[in-house]
Amino acid sequence: MYDIAQRPRRNRQSSAARDLVRETHLTPGHLIMPLFVLDGQGLRQEIPSMPGVFRLSEDEVLKEIEACMRLGVRSFVLFPAVEDHLKTPEGTYGVDPSNFYFRIARSIKQAFPEALLMSDVALDPYSSDGHDGLVVDGEIVNDATLPLLAAQAVAQADAGFDFIGPSDMMDGRVGVIREALDTANYTNTGIVAYSAKYASAFYGPFRDALESAPKSGDKKTYQMDPANRNEALREAELDAQEGADFLMVKPALCYLDVIRELSVHMDRPIAAYHVSGEYAMLKAAAARGWIDYDRAMPEMLTSIHRAGASVILTYCAREFAERYQAGTLAY
Ligand code: PBG
Repeated sequence: MYDIAQRPRRNRQSSAARDLVRETHLTPGHLIMPLFVLDGQGLRQEIPSMPGVFRLSEDEVLKEIEACMRLGVRSFVLFPAVEDHLKTPEGTYGVDPSNFYFRIARSIKQAFPEALLMSDVALDPYSSDGHDGLVVDGEIVNDATLPLLAAQAVAQADAGFDFIGPSDMMDGRVGVIREALDTANYTNTGIVAYSAKYASAFYGPFRDALESAPKSGDKKTYQMDPANRNEALREAELDAQEGADFLMVKPALCYLDVIRELSVHMDRPIAAYHVSGEYAMLKAAAARGWIDYDRAMPEMLTSIHRAGASVILTYCAREFAERYQAGTLAY
């Protein structure tokens, strides 16, 4: 016997003891499920780089939402997969009343009024240039983009979205969107600001899903440099001042320190986006038997929550909730 005064292992000696001292409790209620939607009927197209994730038509998305709701996942973010011929430099289809995105949101809210719907605001799903802002002479221009984003946000609020999700990283857009929503009397429509969105390699599979990769150049003049943390705080402070209700960090796992920083310094709830590339890596390794998905997936999500994100956007939401409900969640 050694004279060891402190023995932290005592609190880990049994499953019951570990239950008592567990500090982080992630539940399906913390999760937002991203869904890719497209026009048409009876469509369920698997995205090759995201096994288990599909582009869904209206009827299929309603089934998916019903299944998630039963499992306790009640929040969804919708991304439209728009056909190329509808894309223009100004992304006009993003505010077109005939846009299937609005029709699908209305039909979800009608079938499931208690579901929370978050939108995506940016030009890239609708832009022939594949950039989040307007491209003029090869430059992604900031201020001329803002009214286009505000118009998208108001049209989305009108379609019944509860929260607007500006993912574009233009300066000043949260304030302009907040003002446009208030002017249109959508004072109850919230804003989940993508505050610290990094110029990341981990968005690749998402761009495959929407065929939304930039036609030229990259997104580094608006998305953040992965090397920066102070700048994330600056972006978050600006978005909070401009009226954001949630502040998001994206991606999640390479940026846990940024999540932590924001959760300590900001008085708004922090969301983290566990993005397509993070999902793809996990699935690819699991498919080869190199990693145990059932343990690695909840470990990753719990880490994001532990770092300080009260909300997690993740393609694993349904699988997490299935295991949570069955009582088989393990890590
Ligand atoms: C673009 C947008 C992107 C994602 C969400 N909104 C990609 C990008 O900025 O190119 C990525 C989400 C993911 O990778 O899961 N407005």
